[in-house]
Amino acid sequence: MKTKVFSMKELTGREELDAIKECAAIIKKGGLVAFPTETVYGLGGNALDANVSKKIYAAKGRPSDNPLIVHICDMKGLYEVAEGVTDAAIQLADRFWPGPLTMILKKKSIVPDETTGGLDTVAVRMPSHKDALRLINASGVPIAAPSANSSGRPSPTMAGHVLQDLDGKIDAVIDGGAVDIGLESTIIDLSAAVPVLLRPGYITTEMIKEVVGEIERDPTLDAGVSEGMKPKAPGMMYRHYAPKGDMVIVTGNTDNVIEKINELARGHDPHETAVITTEENRHAYSGCRVVCMGTRQDEQSVARQLYSVLRRMDEYNIKYIYVESFKSDRLGDAIMNRLLKAAGHKVIHVEGRY
Ligand code: TXA
Ligand code: MG
Repeated sequence: MKTKVFSMKELTGREELDAIKECAAIIKKGGLVAFPTETVYGLGGNALDANVSKKIYAAKGRPSDNPLIVHICDMKGLYEVAEGVTDAAIQLADRFWPGPLTMILKKKSIVPDETTGGLDTVAVRMPSHKDALRLINASGVPIAAPSANSSGRPSPTMAGHVLQDLDGKIDAVIDGGAVDIGLESTIIDLSAAVPVLLRPGYITTEMIKEVVGEIERDPTLDAGVSEGMKPKAPGMMYRHYAPKGDMVIVTGNTDNVIEKINELARGHDPHETAVITTEENRHAYSGCRVVCMGTRQDEQSVARQLYSVLRRMDEYNIKYIYVESFKSDRLGDAIMNRLLKAAGHKVIHVEGRY
């Protein structure tokens, strides 16, 4: 299959609308279109068609017990797919939709089991990216969209990443340039009495608490997935977002972290070794490849670059990756969550706190 690429920045307003229409026609016919959202690129198809969900799993090489997020463009869409929409859900939608928040609610029977991985709940999100909203609206159906990467690889933050993984396997890509946030949406489970955070993201725990009061945190987020412990979001179980090399996070007092990483890096061939750091410390490392992702002054700049930096590790054929840790509050919670998963929870603690 030839994957058609629609480059939005090269199109006039009129042509953009035509491109959206063409992509919506593909979705209506049961095809797959990757599209930008404010978080990461999604691989979209009709969420109400069981065969389409199967095609999404096949294109990504993703296990079919890992449910998909259903993307909607208005509140009508929420009632179409979800049962028993709670007050908390309405308050959260009011505050954060359209935006990077996914809510888990009881599903309506119109949503096929293939889309929800056999669960009786459904994950719903109203994205804020204009192309995403236009595509869902023009398609006239809710769109199931996992991140548009091959299963296990870092999520795509630009159309080029989507093509690296899925060229020839999907009908089209809408190229809307680099995404704004760079990490997947926050997931909150509202199907039980107390809301549970299943995946941290740009909408932080602090922000959600302001709206709904106390929330719980899925215990596997911090402990990692060990035997007998199953995360409530099945997707959080897989080694994810991961480069091929062996990745280790070093945490502690900054000077000690730098010293430790330099020492560890010296133990390997410099061509096969990389350090991931930020602007603040980029000159503190030597003797291997040093890759910088944003600045600690602005954690959004780190989030935005994290996945493309992880992808670059594979392009450079890096075998040993050392990365500094981040404070685990606010957006740092999501950054550390993705780093821990990419590193398979391998952490070295040196003296002092970050
Ligand atoms: O930002 C995002 O959410 C992106 C963009 C494209 O919207 N999408 C995304 O989808 O990250 P995906 O499929 O890569 O991640 C979905 C996560 C998985 O961990 C999955 O297990 C979880 O959501 N999930 C989906 N439905 C669920 C459900 N009913 N109960 C619990 N977890 C669910
Ligand atoms: Mg994903």
